[in-house]
Amino acid sequence: MSLKEEIARRKTFGIISHPDAGKTTLTEKLLLFGGAIQTAGAVKSNKIKKTTVSDFMEIEKQRGISVATSVMAFEYRDLKINILDTPGHQDFAEDTYRTLTAVDSAIVVIDVAKGVETQTEKLVNVCRMRSTPIIVFINKLDREGKDAIDLLDEVEQKLGLRVCPMSWPVGMGGTFKGVYSMYEKKLVLFRPHGKQEEEEIIEIKDLADPLLDKHVGERAANTLREEVEMVQGVYPAFNQAAYQHGELSPVFFGSAVNNFGVREMLDCFVDIAPTPLPRETEERTIQPEEEKFSGFVFKIHANIDPRHRDRIAFLRICSGTFERNTNYLHVRQGRQMRFANPTSFMASKKEVIDDAYPGDVVGLYDSGNFKIGDTLTDGEVLHFKGIPHFSPEQFRYVENADPLKSKQLAKGLDQLMDEGVAQLFTKEINGRKIIGTVGALQFEVIQYRLQHEYGASCTYEPVNLHKACWVKCSDDKAFQEFRSRRNKDLAKDKDGQLVYLAESAWALRMAQEAHPAVEFRFTSEE
Ligand code: G4P
Repeated sequence: MSLKEEIARRKTFGIISHPDAGKTTLTEKLLLFGGAIQTAGAVKSNKIKKTTVSDFMEIEKQRGISVATSVMAFEYRDLKINILDTPGHQDFAEDTYRTLTAVDSAIVVIDVAKGVETQTEKLVNVCRMRSTPIIVFINKLDREGKDAIDLLDEVEQKLGLRVCPMSWPVGMGGTFKGVYSMYEKKLVLFRPHGKQEEEEIIEIKDLADPLLDKHVGERAANTLREEVEMVQGVYPAFNQAAYQHGELSPVFFGSAVNNFGVREMLDCFVDIAPTPLPRETEERTIQPEEEKFSGFVFKIHANIDPRHRDRIAFLRICSGTFERNTNYLHVRQGRQMRFANPTSFMASKKEVIDDAYPGDVVGLYDSGNFKIGDTLTDGEVLHFKGIPHFSPEQFRYVENADPLKSKQLAKGLDQLMDEGVAQLFTKEINGRKIIGTVGALQFEVIQYRLQHEYGASCTYEPVNLHKACWVKCSDDKAFQEFRSRRNKDLAKDKDGQLVYLAESAWALRMAQEAHPAVEFRFTSEE
């Protein structure tokens, strides 16, 4: 198969949701369709139910053994579909943000009863930054929930998405009878606890067809007719280009646990979702069809087993063909590297591969050479854009608790930061180190891992901070003034970029007002 054909048969996406909306369940159903798993329950939820470190470490251990859960590939209708898994726990949101840099599209799962929740908003914002095409799946229609039209309003307002319903529910909860697919002009009847194979699908080209009344009853049929007419009048018709530019989001209704409405969405996804897209680098745009290989590391997974220091770097291939045992340029280190055992991930197993194509993710064994955002190429010096750090929300001073192990501590912190577990800031004024994270759990995870993997111990001290913002200014004089006046609030991040540490939202606003020429950014790259 030619490179072009390989690219044309690939779709790489992520499923995002607020915890409990049904991401794991939906993933599992998709894998079942693809034959990648045989039984329900095979996909372990990576949810942290109890928010404790031991719980987290237990999950990490399992994941360390089976990193396959991070990427799941399956074949469907002659296509190779890669699902990139994202952590469910909000303390690990940054990991999810970064994974979203490696997808070409996303499916957002929303619980019909809960509507749009905070985590959904944050994740969709990240997708919007990059105009990632989004399909919305409204889940749990077998339960009572919000009115479908109100939900669409909520999706438009809170998520800022223009929506285009592709299917419409007939009833809900106790009266849920199924969905009418406007996309395929079919009525899919719901049988609680039924299997997809048993799903009854009836072609109804015209909603006036009395067949509709026969199957769902006159009342429900009339409501459906009215609602569909209204919906079609209010919402734009589906337009693939608008969807692919991230400007229009198709919406489906269903029930993942009942495997209902999932195949309809998958079939549509396969028809409309983009194949691997071009990627921006600081130097130029990279087209997937280019013969020369390029890719970037978006995730690093530590092997928790202390006897093996290995980590796995996840590389998204952006152009050309990646081949085993071939020398590639590690751009940041300026040296050639080759990989004897690159792995691919097919649902529950991982295997060594000889080659991989744009859209694919390969796992590279790493003994500490990679950090997130690193680029590998066929020789060209390229730096992929869009793998930002996000402003952390929790901060603590980190101190060495064992003077004999300061080297180990420095190394451990360095590697954990490369993995993207948290961010390290060094204060300009006194060199004190501050760890910034998205969630409180990471502090304990860092302490635990420093001890178990590096033999180092640290303590934390509170620091009163609200946000870290990256600052930039094209006016040298204004920047100089800002730097001298705010010296005590400045720090460098791990890459040497200047960061303003705001004590409160108020202090941040005051700084912005006092220094209008300075740009305050909430990601390290915008
Ligand atoms: P997540 O990965 O987004 O966090 O959600 P997950 O799939 O784990 O689903 C969260 C809960 O919602 C699970 O129940 C799951 O069974 C349930 N669920 C998923 N889809 C549907 C649906 O269409 N209808 C209904 N009624 N429930 C659904 P749980 O009790 O937390 O776990 P479990 O014991 O059932 O596994």
